[in-house]
Amino acid sequence: MSQSTIESVLQEKRLFNPPRDFSSRATIGSSQHYEELYQKASSNPEQFWAELAQQELHWFKPWDKILDWKPPFAQWFVNGKINITYNCLDRHLTTERRNKAALIWEGEPGDSRTLTYAQLHREVCQMANAMKQLGVCKGDRVGIYMPMIPEAAIAMLACARIGAPHTVVFGGFSAQALQDRLLDAEAKLVVTADSGYRKDKIVPLKAQVDRALADNGVPSVTNVLVVQRTKEKVSMEPGRDHWWHEVQPEMSGHCPAEPMDSEDMLFILYTSGTTGKPKGVVHTTGGYNLYTHMTTKWIFDLQETDVYWCTADVGWITGHSYIVYGPLSNGATSLMYEGVPRPSNPGCFWDIVEKYGVNIFYTAPTAIRAFIKMGEHLPKARDLSSLRLLGTVGEPINPSAWMWYHEVIGGGRCPIVDTWWQTETGGIMISPLPGVTPTKPGSATRPFPGIIVDVVDLDGNPVEDNEGGYLIIKHPWPSMMRTVHKDPDRFRRTYWEPISPRDNQHFYFAGDGAKRDEDGYYWVMGRVDDVINVSGHRLGTMEVESALVSHPAVAEAAVVGRPDEVKGEDIFAFVTLEGNYTGSESLVQELKQHVVQEIGAIARPGEIRFTDAMPKTRSGKIMRRLLRNLAAGEEIGGDTSTLEDRSVLDKLRS
Ligand code: WT7
Repeated sequence: MSQSTIESVLQEKRLFNPPRDFSSRATIGSSQHYEELYQKASSNPEQFWAELAQQELHWFKPWDKILDWKPPFAQWFVNGKINITYNCLDRHLTTERRNKAALIWEGEPGDSRTLTYAQLHREVCQMANAMKQLGVCKGDRVGIYMPMIPEAAIAMLACARIGAPHTVVFGGFSAQALQDRLLDAEAKLVVTADSGYRKDKIVPLKAQVDRALADNGVPSVTNVLVVQRTKEKVSMEPGRDHWWHEVQPEMSGHCPAEPMDSEDMLFILYTSGTTGKPKGVVHTTGGYNLYTHMTTKWIFDLQETDVYWCTADVGWITGHSYIVYGPLSNGATSLMYEGVPRPSNPGCFWDIVEKYGVNIFYTAPTAIRAFIKMGEHLPKARDLSSLRLLGTVGEPINPSAWMWYHEVIGGGRCPIVDTWWQTETGGIMISPLPGVTPTKPGSATRPFPGIIVDVVDLDGNPVEDNEGGYLIIKHPWPSMMRTVHKDPDRFRRTYWEPISPRDNQHFYFAGDGAKRDEDGYYWVMGRVDDVINVSGHRLGTMEVESALVSHPAVAEAAVVGRPDEVKGEDIFAFVTLEGNYTGSESLVQELKQHVVQEIGAIARPGEIRFTDAMPKTRSGKIMRRLLRNLAAGEEIGGDTSTLEDRSVLDKLRS
C-alpha cells in the first residue's frame, strides 16, 4: 500500500452496523450467539472444531484423535475417513437439493450452462472413471490447466473422488511455469482444453501443454485429457492425448467416492514466496473440508436459495475454497464466469448479477478500483437489487474503494466482508460475520471463531494496540497448509522460524504487516517480505528477477513493487546490461515479453529502467528500499550511509 493509502486507513473511524434486516435472517444474527461461539472456540478450539466436524460433515469412519500437533506439523482428525466429494455431491442427492443448480456457468462469448447436483455428480464420476482408465491411481498427482469452464471444477472433483491430488495451474501461466509445476508435482496426467477465451482473445492452452511436455520435458506425464472448448485446431499426439468428448460417453456415471484418510493430500497449489522457486503448498482432506465448509457457511451466510458468485479463477486458492469446495459442500449454487471485465464489455459483471439475480458477490479490490475508474453509470444502468452481501479479498482495500463498493454496488444495504487469508491458510482467517460484526472500511475486523491471531515483534512479543507489527497465528487450524511439497525444511524456515518467541511457543508467520486497534479489529497493511501483490496476484520479486537474468542481455536485475492506483502494485524492474548490449525501447519490449514467456502475462513488468550499477551496500546487497523510493517517484528516505557508491543514486534519479 502506498504511504498515503496507509495514512487514510489509519485515520478511518467510520463504523457500519449490520443492517437489522440482514441480521434477522442471518445464520449467525445475534451478538449473543456470536459471543457464545467465540468463547467456546477460544477456550477449546479442538473441541469446537470436532463438534462442527461431526455435525456438518459426513465421515466414513470417525477420527481417533482431533489434533496431533508436533510443531510445525499438524494432523487433524487423525485416522478419520472422509471424501470431500461425498460431502460436496453425494449427500445432496438424497435431499431436495438433487435437482438444484450446483454450478451456473456463464461463458465468455455469451454461452451458458447449468449443472444440477445430480448432473454434476454424474459428470464428476465419468471423469473420475476416465482418469482411472488412463492409469491414475490413488496418490498420483494430476495437473489441471484450464479455462474457467465447468470441466475445470469437474476435473478437480474427479481427482478428489479417486484420491489423486490435483495441482491446478492458472491458465495465464506460461508453458515454462506450467512445466516447472508439473515437474515438481510429478504429475501423471494433465487435464487441459484446446484453448480458452480471455479478454476477447483465444488462449492456446493445449499448445502450451505440448510445449511444456516436448522432448520429454515432464517424464512423469503419460496422458493428456483435452476438453473441447473453442474448437480451435490443436495437434493431438496418438496414445498420449485424448479428447474428453470422445471418452466421456463411454464412461459410467457411477464411481464410488474413495474413502480417504483425513490427512491424505487433497491438492498442491503453487504460490510465490521470497525465494526464486514457487512453493508447492500442500493441503489435506478432512480439515480443509471442514474449514472451507464452515467459513463459507458463516461468512457468506449462505441461504438455501442464494445465487453465490465468487469472481476468482479456479487457478488460485480463492477458486478452490470459495468457488468449488466450500460452496458445494454447503449445497449452494455457485456461479462461475469464464471472462473478466474488459474494454469491449466493461459492464459484464453487472449484466451477470442482473441476469442470474446474484445474491452474494465476492471479488477483489483491484476489480473494484477498476470499476470506479470505468464510472458509476455502468452498475447504475443495471438492476443490482438482488445483491444482499458483498465480499472482498486479495489485498488491503482502501476506504474510498470500500465506500464506493458499499454505496454504488451494495446500494448502502449490503454488509461487506473484507476477508484476509492466504493460499497457505486454506480458508478465510480474519473477516466480519455479516449478521453480527460492525464493519470499518479497510479493516478485515476480527478473526474467525477458533482462529487465534496476534500482532507481534520479531521476538514474538505482542505490540501495543495501534502499533504496527507482524501478523501471526498462534494455534493450529484445520485447513492450515501441512508442508511445502517435497521440502518440509522450507516449510519450517519460511513460516515457523521468522518469529521466535522465547518460551516454547510456535507462531505461524503470515508475511503481512498489521495493527490491531482498541476494538480488537485487525488492519492488514500488506507484505513485509519480497512478495508483491499485482492486481491481487502474488509474485515474488526474485521470481521476476530470475526470469529477467535468464535473458542473455541482462547482467543483473532488481525488482520492486511500485504503488499503482488500480493494480495496487505494479512491477518495476531495474536492469544492468551485459557489456555488449545497450538499452533501447525495443530491448525494453523484448525483456517484458521474455518475462511473459518465462512466467506469464501477470508478471509483465510495468516499467523497466536500465542502469549502469545498482545501489549496493558495502557487503554487496542491493538496497531495495532505495529502489522502491525511486520507483514510486518519492524522495529517498532513511539512512543511506551503508551505500557503497553514492553516485549510483544520482545516476538512477536521472
Ligand atoms: C496475501 C495472500 C487468499 C486469497 C487470495 C490471495 C494479501 C489477501 C487480504 C485482505 C489485506 C490481503 C495478503 C496475503 N491479502 N486478502 N483482505 N486484506 N491483504 O491469496 O495469493 O496466497 O496471497 O494476499 O498480503 O498475505 P495469496
